[in-house]
Parts: sequence; C-alpha cells; structure tokens
Amino acid sequence: MVMNSFEFHNTTDIRFGQGLIDQQLAEAVGQFGHRVLLVYGGGSIKKMGLYDRVIKDLAGFEMVELSGVEPNPKIESVRQGQKLAQEHDSQVILAVGGGSVIDAAKVIASAKFYQGDPWDLVVDSSKRAQLDQLPVVDILTLSATGTEMNTGSVISNPETHQKLGTAGPHTPAVSFLDPSLTYSVSAWQTAAGAMDIFSHLTEQYFDQGSSDVTSGMMEGLFRTVIKNAPLALENPKDYDARGELMWAATMALNGIVRVTNQNGWSVHPMEHELSAYYDITHGVGLGILTPRWMSYILNENTMARFAQFGRNVWGLDGSDDSVSRSAIQATFDWNRSLKVPTTLPEVGIADDSHFEAMAEAAVKNGRLDQRAYVPLQIADVVNLYQASMTNQGFE
Ligand code: NZQ
Ligand code: ZN
Repeated sequence: MVMNSFEFHNTTDIRFGQGLIDQQLAEAVGQFGHRVLLVYGGGSIKKMGLYDRVIKDLAGFEMVELSGVEPNPKIESVRQGQKLAQEHDSQVILAVGGGSVIDAAKVIASAKFYQGDPWDLVVDSSKRAQLDQLPVVDILTLSATGTEMNTGSVISNPETHQKLGTAGPHTPAVSFLDPSLTYSVSAWQTAAGAMDIFSHLTEQYFDQGSSDVTSGMMEGLFRTVIKNAPLALENPKDYDARGELMWAATMALNGIVRVTNQNGWSVHPMEHELSAYYDITHGVGLGILTPRWMSYILNENTMARFAQFGRNVWGLDGSDDSVSRSAIQATFDWNRSLKVPTTLPEVGIADDSHFEAMAEAAVKNGRLDQRAYVPLQIADVVNLYQASMTNQGFE
C-alpha cells in the first residue's frame, strides 16, 4: 500500500458537553458581532425549550430570524436567508437544528456576499471560493451528517428535481455538541441518523487509498455506531449513547478519516436522487441502498476489503468469502433491527418510472463511472434501484 499525500486543515471550535451553551453561547457568537441571523427548522427547538434558552443566552444581541428550514433543505429557504442577511447586514449566523438547518445556514453565509440567485452557488461551488463567508455558529440537535465540522451542504431544488452538494471555503466557526439536546429526536430520525453515519463510513472505508490509520479509525467508529444506535433507541435519554453517536457523526465526516483516500462516493449520489424525486429521509434511503450496493460490488478484487470489514467491524471469523457475505447480511440485519423500511416501496417509491433519469443524474453528479471505488454505469445504478424494490436475497 502506498500512503497518498494529503493536507488536513479544520478550524471548527468544538464545544462538547451538557449545558455549555448557557455559559458560552454569548461569547462564541459575540466574538463575531452583535447582529445575528438565527436559522432554525420547523419548531422542534421551540418544543424542547431550546429556542427560549438561546434567546435568553443572547439577550442584548440584535436577532433576526429565519425559521421553517425543512428536512432536505430547499433553495427557497436559502433565498430568504440571503435577503435577511443582506437587509440586516448580519455579522454572524447562528444555526440551531439538524443537518438541514446547518447546511442551509452555511450556504446563506456565502450568499450574503452574492448579488445573484444563490442556486448559482449550489450548482457551481467554485463561485463560493471567490466570496467571503459569514461565520456560522451552530447548536447541533441531531447526530447524523457531520455538517457541524465540514464545509459541505446539500440543497434541493424541487422545481428541477435536483439535490446537489456544495462546499464553501469554511467549516462552521463554532459548533456546540450537547448530547442531551438530541434526547427528543424521534426513533425514526435516530435510526436514520445512525444509518447516515454508517454510510459516511462505508463510503470512505471502501476506497483504494485508505491507510491503516484511517481504516482503524473508521472500524472503531463503525463499532461505536452499531453498538450505540440500539441503546439510544431503547432509552432516548441515555446521555452516553447519545454522546457516542454525536461524536461519531462528527468524526465520521470532518475529513479526518479520509485523508489518504482517492475515490469518490457511491451510495450518496444514488440516494440524493431518491430524495430529489421523492423527498424521503436521507439516512433511510442510504440504509436501503447500502447492502444492495455492497452485494453488487463484491468480487474477487474487493473481497479482501469486505473480509477486513467483516472481521474488524462485525467480529466475524472464517474464509474471506464467507466473512464478506456475512458482513453484508449483518449490515442489512442491523438496518432492519433499527425498525426502518428496508425497501423502496415502503418509503413510497412504488414504481420504477424515474429510475433511468435518477440513475443518469447520479452517475453524472457523483461521477460514478469515473471515480467510484467500483465504477458504476447508468445501467448498474438502475439495477441497484431495482434490487431495492424487494428484500430478495436478504431474507
Ligand atoms: O425542522 P425541525 O422542527 O427542527 O425538526 C427536525 C426535522 O424534522 C427534526 N429534529 C432535529 N433535531 C431534533 C428534531 N426533532 C426533535 N428533537 C430534536 N433534537 O428532525 C428532522 C430531520 O432533521 P434534518 O436536519 O433534516 O436531519 P439530518 O441532520 O439528518 O440532516 C439531513 C440533511 O443533511 C444532508 C442530507 O442530504 C439531508 O438533506 N446531508 C448533509 C451532509 C453534510 N453537510 O455534510 C452530509 C450528509 O451525507 C447529508 O447528505
Ligand atoms: Zn449522508
């Protein structure tokens, strides 16, 4: 194995622990100014009392609000945020919520300095590198995406059936990670979040450039998620289980486990099309697709890696062939044990009418035919969507 060269730079200031916001939020936000754009979602932060705490913690700040950012955040929210940030000359964005809220906030942070339609910045991320970006402080309320410590956002445009990733120049300036703020996350979103973390790991583990360092880190993170997701589902107020999931989510996608990697991702581009066309929950879509993708790419070239995955992640023994197959089955069984759908019809995708168009977009946006661990053509992706219509092969 040749260790690939890399640079690693991540400046997010992490504040992990229960109740830190009440002591530190004013300082963390205030270092950037007093005119704050507060961004949040559909109301979960009000129900859990977090909104009131934030308003109290930031008494004396000039607050302007953008609420109603939806799951799979829509470009319309970004447009509204751009308008507010420009009109009020916001100095800092405070994002309180899950990945959708933080993703939208990060693009608004760039859009403040852009005079055109912010969809331009999603379609062509390179435009954002030329722009300034407001500092984003966030309070994370759902463990899944890793957006709290990376530069990425995923934004949807329902008019064009597009869901695209965009990266800005900066990671969030400060991220508050308080596991107790995830106690109220539903069983559905807890499971979806866990499968999202798991998928971020598979996307980066199955890569020709992984080193011993990064492989070992990922194997530890895999085991953490596999162990703690059921614990959090069983007892939603298990602080340690919630905390393990939260830090695993951040570590899985802050860039550190992929430093020597060389391939692109496979399952996320395919899932983004499911969400773009059917607005399904991201993690659930990943959970459905991942075991099918694994089975599809298992061959004599990839078997050694699957066997390592089986031994070090799932604790399996035996020949490479049998460990590989059992590891894929174990992945499917774990997803099912989280009590979420395991087929596309169960999430409302009843027929294959869009599969061809979705597969075409997935291959194009994810460059699956060129950069994937095992390159995939449009017909392969259609086959994978088809294989996800039933549980055949996994019962
Ligand atoms: O809108 P509210 O009322 O806040 O409710 C949300 C939403 O309905 C709710 N929720 C969040 N925290 C809660 C809570 N409910 C009760 N208690 C809490 N503490 O959960 C629902 C889902 O929230 P969302 O933010 O959509 O979930 P998630 O964090 O999984 O984010 C998913 C989005 O992130 C993108 C996905 O594609 C999807 O659009 N991703 C972003 C990535 C990145 N920036 O690096 C990478 C990922 O692979 C992913 O693609
Ligand atoms: Zn994801």
